[in-house]
Amino acid sequence: MPSTTNLREITRRAFLQLLGWAWAVPAVIGLKQILDFISYCPPAADPTIIPLGTPQTLPPLPAAIERARIFLMKDDKGYFALDNVCTHLGCLVRRSPQSEGGFACRCHGSRFTADGAVITGPATKPLPYFALHWDSAGQLVVDRTQNVDSGWRLANGG
Ligand code: FES
Repeated sequence: MPSTTNLREITRRAFLQLLGWAWAVPAVIGLKQILDFISYCPPAADPTIIPLGTPQTLPPLPAAIERARIFLMKDDKGYFALDNVCTHLGCLVRRSPQSEGGFACRCHGSRFTADGAVITGPATKPLPYFALHWDSAGQLVVDRTQNVDSGWRLANGG
C-alpha cells in the first residue's frame, strides 16, 4: 500500500507529466489553423448566367427566383427580369404591400416602385434589369452581367 508521501509524489509526477504535454494543445490548434490557411479554397463565385426553366416549368409569374436573385415577370410584350438585390447594401428586397406592387428592403427601409425606381432611401439607385435569352434547350436564361433598360422585353418563345 503506497504511503501518503508516495501518493503525493505520484500526483506531483503525474501533474508534471501533464504539464510536459501541455504544449501539445496549442500546437495542435495552431497546426490546424495553419492547415486551414494553406488549404483555403475561396467559395465559388455566384453564377451570373442562370437557366430558369422552360415556359412549362417556370413558376407562375411574377415570381421571385431566389437562386438567380431576380424577380421574373411577364407582360403582354414578353419576359423581363428585375434584380432583387437592394442597391443600397445588397440585402434582398421583397414584394411590399405598402409600395403598391413595388418592393421593400427590410435592412434599412428602402422602398422601390413595381418597376424598380426608388421611392424612399437610403438606396439612391433603381433596381437594375437583366437580359434574358432562350437557350438551345428552350430554357429561359438570365444573364446577371448584362443590364438592359426597363422597357426591354424578351418575346415569348422557348
Ligand atoms: S440594404 Fe436595402 S436599404 Fe440598406
